[in-house]
Amino acid sequence: MSDEKIKSKPKHLAIILDGNGRWARKRHLPRLLGHRAGVKALEKIVRAVKRECIPYLSVYAFSTENWNRPELEVKGLMSLFRYYIRKKIDELKAEDIKIRFCGRKSGLPEDILELMKWGEDYTANQTTLEFIPCLNYGGRAEIIDAVNTLIASNPQTPVTEQDLRKYFYLPDVPDPDLIIRTGGEFRLSNFWLWGSAYSEYYFTDIFWPDFNEAELKKALEFYAGRERRYGGLKS
Ligand code: IPE
Ligand code: IPE
Ligand code: MG
Repeated sequence: MSDEKIKSKPKHLAIILDGNGRWARKRHLPRLLGHRAGVKALEKIVRAVKRECIPYLSVYAFSTENWNRPELEVKGLMSLFRYYIRKKIDELKAEDIKIRFCGRKSGLPEDILELMKWGEDYTANQTTLEFIPCLNYGGRAEIIDAVNTLIASNPQTPVTEQDLRKYFYLPDVPDPDLIIRTGGEFRLSNFWLWGSAYSEYYFTDIFWPDFNEAELKKALEFYAGRERRYGGLKS
């Protein structure tokens, strides 16, 4: 691939997977079937992102605010995460994909934390794509958790951006270049608050279970047409 082409691709693509519930409602199905369909769409998109040679893919799967949903839905989502990790990690490994989870560990069920750790260790040597499900993730929680760990480390003051960043959940993961949100809402809902300072945004009305490779290509084309200036002048 030419240098120009690589430059015009996001290094870190972040996706807010939204619209599973409305997808199900449109079909008179329970919301959980929408989440199941969402997992199927995700499996295809992970592979498509790998084919695009994008090295980091993060997906917002469960926010710190999603605990406010009805108990049955939360339980169903947790079961879906268990199922996904148990059944799908072998496939990821075979495709040279590394899984890493991003979010607040406390609050998640113990057995899911164990599965997450197992999946991360099991795929730790894979290198083509880092696939990062954000579970129990909140941008504000991440900043607060980092501040508290930083204070506990008794840092030199004044602290710098770099000092704080060291304590983010995955400090080595670059800021998202492109954030896609499906489902027709125009908001961040507490995703990558710090890292999104200079991200590009792509919004689509399509519900997440209907998002496919053709839609991904549209988002990447949009991104390739953006000029990123970071507060500087046109190059
Ligand atoms: C996104 O779909 C998945 C999660 C938040 C877990 P929603 O469940 O938010 O779907 P809508 O927005 O209600 O359609
Ligand atoms: C954002 O979607 C969180 C995830 C996709 C996991 P929500 O559906 O929870 O966001 P709001 O409530 O519409 O802002
Ligand atoms: Mg939603």
